[in-house]
Amino acid sequence: MEKKHRNTLAPWTYLSTEFFDLESRLFKNHWMLVGHISELSNPGDYVTFDAVGERAVVIVDEQMQLRGYHNVCRHRGAQLLTDAGHCKHRINCPFHGWSYKLNGTLASLPLPDTFENLNKEEISLHPVKVEMWHGLVFINFDADAKPLAEHLQSVEAEVAPYNIANMQPIIDKYDQLKPYNWKVIHDIDNEGYHVPVGHPSLQQLYGQSYEDRIENGIPISDATINEKPAQLWSVRHYQKLLPEVEHLPVHRQKSWWYIGLFPNTVIALYPDMVEYYMTIPVSVDTTRYIGRAYALPTSNRAIKACRYLNLRINGITEQEDESFVSDMQEGMRSSAFPEPTLSSTEQGVLHFHQKIQQHFPVATLRSEPAAGTISEVNTSIASAGK
Ligand code: FES
Ligand SMILES: [Fe+2]
Repeated sequence: MEKKHRNTLAPWTYLSTEFFDLESRLFKNHWMLVGHISELSNPGDYVTFDAVGERAVVIVDEQMQLRGYHNVCRHRGAQLLTDAGHCKHRINCPFHGWSYKLNGTLASLPLPDTFENLNKEEISLHPVKVEMWHGLVFINFDADAKPLAEHLQSVEAEVAPYNIANMQPIIDKYDQLKPYNWKVIHDIDNEGYHVPVGHPSLQQLYGQSYEDRIENGIPISDATINEKPAQLWSVRHYQKLLPEVEHLPVHRQKSWWYIGLFPNTVIALYPDMVEYYMTIPVSVDTTRYIGRAYALPTSNRAIKACRYLNLRINGITEQEDESFVSDMQEGMRSSAFPEPTLSSTEQGVLHFHQKIQQHFPVATLRSEPAAGTISEVNTSIASAGK
């Protein structure tokens, strides 16, 4: 008899617009990285964030508190702020000029007497949860979301010495449109089994020691830089130049490691800098790929050279991954696309797929349900499993 359920995601879950509409919820009830405290250092500084139809702004109020709001005017829904920047004392709507204090309350509006029964005091921007974790700023559209720090508690002590909150950006934020389903990008990223063949520079940098593991529900990839000098120029010089980094413990002096934050973010920690990258889906086959690197201010030339080389090594890796992602996305249309046979070193892929299946049990099905029924089938599998 044909197997109906599977513990990895079938290709249809990457190609179905209907499933995409369902899984988009993940971006409304998980913590989303919106920026870094260096962008939010004065009252009125703000960053914005858009995903799957929702819009948020995080702004510093007069008391230096971070405030999160839906970036939606209470009058007729216009977008209040764009990109990142600074507003002086007021958030002004560009449409008709309603004006809000930084604490979200409505301060003034043109022609107030022309509105019947409008009580200014009762109107405030709708709040969005905000949390800062080691200088990284996150929002959650779900008012009942559990604190992010709780989820990340087991890596807290390991991350603290990096002092991310005192870092500054060392590159512009990138925000690129990619022609893939968002999950394919994570499927490639969630395992290091492809490193020896797919990423010669990473292999030469840390190939011997690379390991993926799931620790307290958090995917961690951990590697130590090889002693043996690499053949590749960037890697060899990085190995040679990397100085002792005073603020890090011995076991992190030569460590490249990565923390996965379901569903869409990776925080990468290197001795010389820290970076994040994340996906935001736009449609079933279009995804924004966003990221930025940060580092502590320094006048140490060796560290600066290492940052340059690090960005270069990661740039090469990204190009290599791009071709695997594109190939895999294409391959999913093939009738011979396999149910994957996973190595024990690819557990990160399985973990990611099972997390999606826990949220959306319809994604355990091997074949796509009939058009128009995916949400309904999902609900019935979920209630049968209770
Ligand atoms: S929509 Fe903002 S003032 Fe009208
Ligand atoms: Fe890769």
